[in-house]
Amino acid sequence: MIPFEDLLWVGFYAALAALIVAGVALGLLYVLRGRSVATQLVVVGAATVLATISGILVISFMMLLNDHDRAVVLAVVTAAGLVAMAVSVLLGRRLVAANRVLVEAVRAGRFEPPEVRLPAELAELSRELDAAYQRLAEAHRREQALEASRRELVAWVSHDLRTPLAGLRAMAEALEDEVVADPETVHRYHSRIRVEVERLTEMVDDLFELSRIHAGALRLSRRRVGLADLVAEAVAGAEALARAKGVRLRGDVREGLPVQVDTAELGRALRNLVVNAIRHTPADGTVEIIGDVRDGRARVTVADACGGIPEDDLPRVFDVAFRGETARTPGGGAGLGLAIARGIVEAHAGEIGVANAGPGCRFEVHLPLLALTA
Ligand SMILES: Nc1ncnc2c1ncn2[C@@H]1O[C@H](COP(=O)(O)OP(=O)(O)O)[C@@H](O)[C@H]1O
Ligand SMILES: [Mg+2]
Repeated sequence: MIPFEDLLWVGFYAALAALIVAGVALGLLYVLRGRSVATQLVVVGAATVLATISGILVISFMMLLNDHDRAVVLAVVTAAGLVAMAVSVLLGRRLVAANRVLVEAVRAGRFEPPEVRLPAELAELSRELDAAYQRLAEAHRREQALEASRRELVAWVSHDLRTPLAGLRAMAEALEDEVVADPETVHRYHSRIRVEVERLTEMVDDLFELSRIHAGALRLSRRRVGLADLVAEAVAGAEALARAKGVRLRGDVREGLPVQVDTAELGRALRNLVVNAIRHTPADGTVEIIGDVRDGRARVTVADACGGIPEDDLPRVFDVAFRGETARTPGGGAGLGLAIARGIVEAHAGEIGVANAGPGCRFEVHLPLLALTA
């Protein structure tokens, strides 16, 4: 039996030798840190074998091993070491191959998660890549949709802005050349010019707002307000129009529903909804604006008596420059109102939607509600 103290010394020297080997190996791994995992695994394998061999050398120097035994042990360790190295190399090659599968999947352009079973870390990387590619594709789709709507807008501008301008020019020329002279027609021309200019101003203003929304440049200066105040303001702003059309306007909003919004912007969105509702409701019809809470969010409903929007048009009414057939009359809107309303509502992390209901349609705006006690 070997004395316990000797055993301690053996352990000490063996650990010391192993530490030296490990130090060299770590240095080597640092130098090779940019190389393939396969190469680095070979270093690890070699270091393991060398550490073992150095331990054996230690005990033979301490005369605990005779020449014969040392030769036997070295032979065994060398054989085992060679096998271990071979396993390292195999593992390294598998990792390299798995990695190449990933690289090729990425190179294919559209990332498809590889069918083969990957090591956990690479599998995670593959999942993340898949998610990233899906986000990329989604962003690309959005970008294309935006580009399409931008093109539509340019086409719109060149057509819808030119037509009224041509009319204005014709009227101005007729006045200038005194083609029209009787006071009544002159007066009519003047007031039509004023109305058209006002409409054009509104259109340019809407275009500007829409371009700010599209560019993501809408700066909201939010403050805490009650939903009732917002709705009351939108209703007040539309009262004259309603009276002129003989449409009844009814507002019913629960008091004390706090929202954090840019009052000017959101007021504009609500006004667009209310004005649309009045425009599409026949005389003697009713437009109702209701504010309440739905699924923990504030909800504003604008219900009219328009007779319903054609099912095919429902998903498109919020598109830029979309106008229903009946609205494509000269002097009608520009088809920007609802696109603006949606842009503003979404900038407030809200949602807007429409459905046919009762004698007409209902536009609903959902907004995050502030905590009632805050
Ligand atoms: N309250 C409503 N009732 C019926 N149809 C509506 C209503 N609001 C909007 N629409 C339809 O949606 C289209 C787009 O509306 P909008 O973006 O406000 O443009 P505009 O009012 O300039 O036509 C309208 O042309 C109309 O066909
Ligand atoms: Mg409108």
